Amino acid sequence: MLEWATSPLGQRVPIHIAWFLIWVAVIAGLLFLIGHAIYVRYWAKQKEFASEPPATEIRELPARIPRHTLPARLFHWIMAAAMFVLLFTAFLPKVGVQFNWVTYHWIAGSVLTVSILFHMIHATFCMDFWSIWPDRADLEDAGRRCRRFFGKSAALPGKFAKYPLENKLYHGVVMLTGLAVIASGICMMFRVRTIFFPRDPYLFSDMTWGLMYVLHGLAGVGLITLTMVHVYFAIRPEKLPITASMVVGSMSREFYLKEHDPRRWVVEGLSGRSTADGD
Ligand code: HEM
Repeated sequence: MLEWATSPLGQRVPIHIAWFLIWVAVIAGLLFLIGHAIYVRYWAKQKEFASEPPATEIRELPARIPRHTLPARLFHWIMAAAMFVLLFTAFLPKVGVQFNWVTYHWIAGSVLTVSILFHMIHATFCMDFWSIWPDRADLEDAGRRCRRFFGKSAALPGKFAKYPLENKLYHGVVMLTGLAVIASGICMMFRVRTIFFPRDPYLFSDMTWGLMYVLHGLAGVGLITLTMVHVYFAIRPEKLPITASMVVGSMSREFYLKEHDPRRWVVEGLSGRSTADGD
């Protein structure tokens, strides 16, 4: 799983992950999407939800439901571009496509870091911060969905808030992986020449550097699988309206009502209730 070397002090230290893990991550991503596509095609039942919202609330809704503000969409696409540049510059040289990748890599890494900092501030002060974290209703509904999946009797689950539990869990995993790759990446910039600070390869011991490279590599290959899964869902036919909302900022009222509960995802500007912004 790791590649090792002997330091000038004679200590055996890890230097980075073994690169076959790139293929493990790609194959894991492919297996997930093939398995999911087969499950949806042949086994998945129509989603069923409990009570409909009152007709008066539905009549109040606009034809287009605002979903992502312009700053949130710009953040998403800048982060996505940085992520693809990082993945390709990191892993193409490891699978035989040689080029001077380090400069492009730390520049994209800096763009990702700044975009994530912006997102953290924006999400904390301008968005509905809690919309992306699992709440009690998510867990209760997940329990009901699991029991029904295994053929046990359970009440119908409610419709989702702005983000279903699966999306919230994905966000949590990608957040932790992203923070690991950013924190280790910033330290690793001391090993190469950048415009930010003087190079200092002696900042940490050989063992600490080795573990830093291992953490960066593990989080990096994890992001291969996570990105594949994300893109797969983005291009699934039934999810295209969600993907389109990341371009145009809104979705149709019909799509919104199909899976979302207007009491849990309150639409902006309705009856003076709180807004439903999010990432
Ligand atoms: C999708 C995100 C990222 C992936 C997949 C990724 C992957 C990698 C990989 C596989 C390496 C080679 C490491 C080795 O030889 O063991 C590397 C090196 C490096 N990464 Fe990243 N990285 C990502 C994000 C970042 C970020 C956000 C930064 C900076 C903030 C960064 C900075 C660096 C630097 C400076 C190196 C070069 C280290 C050297 O050559 O000594 N990376 N990255």
